[in-house]
Amino acid sequence: MDSFEINKLIGGLLGTVFVVFSVGIISDALFASPAPEKPGYAIEATEEPAEGGPAAPAAEAKPIADLLANANVESGAAVFKKCQACHTGEKGGPNKVGPDLWDIIDRPIAEHAGFAYSAGMKEFSKGGAEKWTYDNLDHFLLSPKKFIKGTAMGFAGLPKDEDRANVIAYLRTLSDSPKPLPTAGASAAAPAEGAAPAKPAEGEAPAAPAAPAAPAPAPAQ
Ligand code: HEC
Repeated sequence: MDSFEINKLIGGLLGTVFVVFSVGIISDALFASPAPEKPGYAIEATEEPAEGGPAAPAAEAKPIADLLANANVESGAAVFKKCQACHTGEKGGPNKVGPDLWDIIDRPIAEHAGFAYSAGMKEFSKGGAEKWTYDNLDHFLLSPKKFIKGTAMGFAGLPKDEDRANVIAYLRTLSDSPKPLPTAGASAAAPAEGAAPAKPAEGEAPAAPAAPAAPAPAPAQ
């Protein structure tokens, strides 16, 4: 084996090492996961109450006005932590993944300055004619993608009545002059008070049996 052959051998070895290293470096570069630009994360997991508890069906039916009557702003602030992955709530706060939510109650939908809304939300807003009423917020937060088709809000929703009511009550406080709360009991004649089920109200007979639609508040799960 002369020195030329030894050179070839060593050259080959070095070549191999070189290739192996380059592959390593290249694959590192290819598969590197850069820190996400947006600090948010899409919370897509649905929190459906797996056990078809009796609370579930009644839940959707409760009007937000009634729920708000018992809402707790402090608990709402805790729920809002979930939103803060994508939203600020301060006056003049920056838009993040989602728009700033200061003074959101009765704010025209998809009209916050400097935010690029999805086509779905812009369409829903009808050029700002639609507002974030308590009802709209309630339905949107229950299931954003069901309520506004094509929304870019990657959030699964708040299936629990109290969570929605609390966070909406909290959002209401993010304002210089909080909007008045809706009047509770307007839509459903409070079943507890009426306590005259068997009263033969002449003329209104057919309406009476409809009452059981809203049973007493189901115990929290
Ligand atoms: C993963 C990020 C993310 C989370 C978490 C999130 N949002 Fe959003 N939100 C968005 C995006 C993005 C939009 C804009 C949607 C569009 O353009 O379709 C949006 C829009 C909204 C709007 C409409 C604002 C406007 O100006 O019309 C409201 C209200 C809202 N979010 C409330 C909430 C609340 C309350 C929570 C917490 C319970 C929440 N969001 C959680 C990303 C998020």
